[in-house]
Formats: sequence, C-alpha cells, structure tokens
Amino acid sequence: MSRVLIIDDNYDMLSMLKMILERQGKHEVIACTNGQEGLEAAFKETPEVALVDVMMPGMSGYDVVKRLRADPRTERMGVIILTARGQNVDRDAALAAGADEHMTKPANVEDLLKRIDELLNRDKAKAQATNVMIVPVMSVKGGVGVTTLAINLANVLQQVAPTVLLDLAPAIGQCAFFLGMRPEKHWGHFLENRNTPIPSLVQKHPAGLQTLFAPLLPGQTSWLNADAAAAILAQLTGMARFVVVDMPPLLDPTVQTILAQAQRILLVSGDDALAIQVTRATLQALQEWKERLLVIRNAVAPGPRPPAEAIQKVLRVPLAVDIAYDPAQVTVAAKGLPLAAVQPKTPLVLGVKRIAQLLLAR
Ligand SMILES: Nc1ncnc2c1ncn2[C@@H]1O[C@H](COP(=O)(O)OP(=O)(O)OP(=O)(O)O)[C@@H](O)[C@H]1O
Ligand SMILES: [Mg+2]
Repeated sequence: MSRVLIIDDNYDMLSMLKMILERQGKHEVIACTNGQEGLEAAFKETPEVALVDVMMPGMSGYDVVKRLRADPRTERMGVIILTARGQNVDRDAALAAGADEHMTKPANVEDLLKRIDELLNRDKAKAQATNVMIVPVMSVKGGVGVTTLAINLANVLQQVAPTVLLDLAPAIGQCAFFLGMRPEKHWGHFLENRNTPIPSLVQKHPAGLQTLFAPLLPGQTSWLNADAAAAILAQLTGMARFVVVDMPPLLDPTVQTILAQAQRILLVSGDDALAIQVTRATLQALQEWKERLLVIRNAVAPGPRPPAEAIQKVLRVPLAVDIAYDPAQVTVAAKGLPLAAVQPKTPLVLGVKRIAQLLLAR
C-alpha cells in the first residue's frame, strides 16, 4: 500500500481523485485543500507521491513543490503537478520548481495511475541502483542467536562500508544490552513525532557500530506498523550501504514489509527438534522469497549436535553457514562488546565473516 498526497483547492476534484486512487486498493490518499496544510501532511506522513494543483489561494503549487524539494524528509518524494494549465511554459515552470511530472486536467485516469506507479517503481529502482542492502536476521522461534549474529554481522560489514544496525526485536533492549549502551534515543521517538529525522536517533558504539535502538520497555510505545517501518528503512538506506535488522520473531505485516525490501534474508535455526521444525515451517511461509533466503545454523549451548546433512535433509535446503558454539561469546557479551570487534578469529566471528562474504558476493 502506498500513500499519495493530493493537494487541490477544488473539493470536487479532490474527492474524485481520492475515489479513483483508492478504488484499486493499492493507494491510500491524504487529501489537503491548500499548500500549507499539504506541506504539513507531507513532512509528517512522508507519503511516497504527491499530486499538486498549481493555482490555489495562499501558496501556489510551484511553491509547494519547491518547499518539498528543499526538505530532507520529502526531497526524494515523487511529485506530479496536475493542473489546468497545459502550455509548454507551464510544463517548464513545473519541472523548474522540481516536479517529476506535469499533467493537465482533466487527466486520463489510466495515464495518471500509470505515472504514479512509475514514480513508485523508480524509488525502488533507485534504492537498488545505489546498492543499499537491507539484511534482516530472523528466527520465528527466538533464542537462537539472532541478536548476536545481527550485531556481529553489522560490525563486520561496517569495516567494508557504512552500516546501521536496526533493532526491531521485542522491546527489551537486547541489542543495547549486548553493546553495553543505554538506548536513550530510539525509534519510539519517531513514532511519537514523525518529523524526527531518523539519522538523529542513531547512536554510535565506541567500536564504531551505528545502531537505531528499540524503545526499552514493552508498552511504552506502540509497536511499529508496516508504514512506520518502511519510513524508517527509507531514511536509514539514505545513510548507509548496509542495514542489518534484528527482527522480531513474527511474520506480521511489519515483518513482511521489511522482508519485501530485503536483498538477502538470514534465517537462523538452532539444533533441537523444535527449532528445526520452526525453521522448516518458516521456510514454507517465506516461499515467495526463497531465492533471497540464507539458512544459518547456530549453537547457543555447548554439546553434541546433529550432523549438518541430517538437518539439510529435513529442511530441504542447504545450510549457507554453520556456526559452532563459541565460548568467547559468553565472556564478551557481558562486557558490552561485539565479539567481532575484539576477537576476529573465533568460530562465531569466522561464521559471521562467511555470511558477509556471501552477501558481498552478490
Ligand atoms: N555461537 C554462539 N556461541 C555461544 N553463545 C552464543 C552463540 N550465539 C549466541 N550465543 C549466546 O546465546 C544467547 C542467546 O543469543 P541471542 O540473544 O543473540 O539470541 P536471540 O535469537 O536474539 O534471542 P531472543 O529471541 O531472545 O531475541 C546469548 O547469551 C548469546 O550470547
Ligand atoms: Mg534477540
């Protein structure tokens, strides 16, 4: 579902466009009748596309577009000027103000929907062209080392290019704990005020790792919805080449939104029968993205393990990386340091480096 902002002082035009766009069920419309209101909505809700009329009392559509382009929250938004003024000079003025498209009223409905789709796809293509890689690390079972792997992977990738770790795990502050940090700033602040720029909420660990933490106490802030998650990701991809996400143990719409944007998905499994069963069920649920999935086996406790072949047979997919129990992790976790930052050659870190190689090999 994408959000489209329409700014037009003509009520009939506004409700007609709203109806046309919402009819397909693909778009959600934010309707505003003047430039000022439209700008406020744009900054607050950061919709993907805006349709802007030109002649409006107060602020003209051109001025609205200029202001959208001047603000970091909306500078990359798709903007269509939709106006009764159809001369070449009008088109030039619209493009000069910063619009992506100029269309004349009455617009052909199919044409309008097509242009909106093109703008939405352009954003996705841009993200791919800039080569930002979103890497969710997940397990529906939990307790199998998701946070540990996410932290260490982010630490290893950070050596290659700017990386941000995004903590979306249930609000108990696991990432902050393992990093020995207090999550003073977190994405809960963004939920309270959508104007808060996400980069201002990212905290840096002394070892260099940048993290956007989760709010600490459950119930303090409402859980992220899919829209907010997409908005957070969009801003994070503007500041890093890799975004590693410590995912919640769920397959809800928020999780689906993130998975849909991911280039690779790391599915972490444990060794015991329940963990393997859950991994198998998750693989089935994520069929749609099977090309992007990398299955990792990790041991969080010492002791004998079933052979990799046996697990691969049950899962019917190869284990991309198999990580052994690593006693060094236990000592370092209590010190608030990513193992990769202090002991680069232990089994856990070597496994994480192998994951990084697989990601970079794409
Ligand atoms: N390969 C490993 N060797 C030794 N200890 C490990 C290993 N991987 C993780 N651990 C330890 O296992 C415990 C659980 O790991 P972690 O918290 O990362 O799991 P999780 O999947 O994120 O759990 P949750 O579902 O609670 O978020 C931690 O104490 C961590 O230090
Ligand atoms: Mg965790």
